[in-house]
Amino acid sequence: MSQRLAKVPKEGATQQSKIRLVLFPLPLQGHITPMFHLATLLHSKGFSITITQTKYKSLDPTLFPHFTFHLLDDGLPDNATFDPNNHTMILDTLNTNCSEPFRNCLTQILSKEPIACLITDPMWSFTKSVASSLSLPRIVLRCASMSTFYVYHSLPFLREKGYYPLQETKSDEPVPELPPLKVKDLPPEAKHNLLVDIITEMENSQGIICNTFEELEDFYITRVHQVLPIPIFAVGPIHKNSPSFQASIWTQDHTSISWLDTQAPKSVLYVSFGSMVQVSKADFVEIACGLANSKQPFLWVVRHGSIEGSDEIDPLPLPEGYLDTIGQRGNIVNWAPQQEVLAHPAVGGFWTHCGWNSIMESISEGVPMLCLPFFADQNINTRHISDHWRIGMELDKGVKRGEIERAIRKLMVEEEGETMRNRITALKEKATLSVMEGGSSYKSLENLTNYLLSF
Ligand code: UDX
Repeated sequence: MSQRLAKVPKEGATQQSKIRLVLFPLPLQGHITPMFHLATLLHSKGFSITITQTKYKSLDPTLFPHFTFHLLDDGLPDNATFDPNNHTMILDTLNTNCSEPFRNCLTQILSKEPIACLITDPMWSFTKSVASSLSLPRIVLRCASMSTFYVYHSLPFLREKGYYPLQETKSDEPVPELPPLKVKDLPPEAKHNLLVDIITEMENSQGIICNTFEELEDFYITRVHQVLPIPIFAVGPIHKNSPSFQASIWTQDHTSISWLDTQAPKSVLYVSFGSMVQVSKADFVEIACGLANSKQPFLWVVRHGSIEGSDEIDPLPLPEGYLDTIGQRGNIVNWAPQQEVLAHPAVGGFWTHCGWNSIMESISEGVPMLCLPFFADQNINTRHISDHWRIGMELDKGVKRGEIERAIRKLMVEEEGETMRNRITALKEKATLSVMEGGSSYKSLENLTNYLLSF
């Protein structure tokens, strides 16, 4: 392996350019973003990149002229929509429909040229069997944290210990086996089958690439390696490692940046609950009032379809006179260039749902967080932010305007927020160093490059 390492040119390698990798993202924003960053990174290392994408939520190939694209017929009508509260249904349908098209696509590529390795999302539950039937090596890209993966892997043990069925009365009790988690952070039983599928896909892969860095999650990377003795490549923050580009399902509103340019340094609270969360109309109004009453400037992303019972053309259910009251102090957009927003000097805090990409992007820019988790890994992520790394705080007393106002002021102008800002600034330095020459993620990427060359 080390001999091969010596042969690898640092950037724009030529040796690898004939070596084709096929990457297969899941068509959800939180999975597309890191997969496209990884593709860009591996392309910069000289590999030829093919992206297979579903028709559903496919990105425009002309934005990525350096990649080859294959569109899979996912069997869905062109205007397919899913109940945003039923993510399992989207995954089940796509997993049922895409297995054969994916196999056919790979067979077609293989009839023309060899494929060195597949890189797939572990939430595709059929790529293991397709890869082995075609004798192709397969690595998975874990888009969420390693701590959540370790929790998922520990579910049988937690069941043995009597944590399941989860008991409401014990929800605030700690889980001493997995500090700093509380019982309420554990995944609900209804999701266990899905989580077992993810684990199986990862267990049977030849490696795991993850969007994290050793200085942040060394403890869990080591634990996962103990239970899954396969290579792990922590190459995050993955977006800091690759040139910036637009891998967005929705059009980003760049007026967010010109508005931020008019604001004082570290004064703005950026608010976004990611690409899947929906809030009730009642909570939306509480959020709007909490933001206004906090008197802090804010940039608020309200994605189309993110309010229950509303569709794209409905006006936002804001209280009467709201926009006049906030004036220039607030800016509401449909979708923002989030990585640029978080890097802007005017941004001083991030109210987030705690999706893993958002967390990595916030850490990368040293922006402390106010956490409002909704589902999936977001509860576990929140616990680490508030109780482990202490770079943010949980909005844990419900979505009520008074609580929101108090929490925002604490984060943005009080000493507690300043302490979190200092901690996350120190973590930002570690993240920055990790992707620089000699850093942990930089070395992991070199190891990954060499590993891919060994197939
Ligand atoms: C989903 C799950 O909600 C999350 O728990 C899991 O970790 C990943 O998949 P999502 O809701 O998409 O994540 O959130 P997140 O992981 O934070 O990813 C959102 C991505 O969209 C980020 O890369 C962010 O930069 C981008 N984004 C978000 C924008 O570009 N503009 C916006 O306005 C909001």
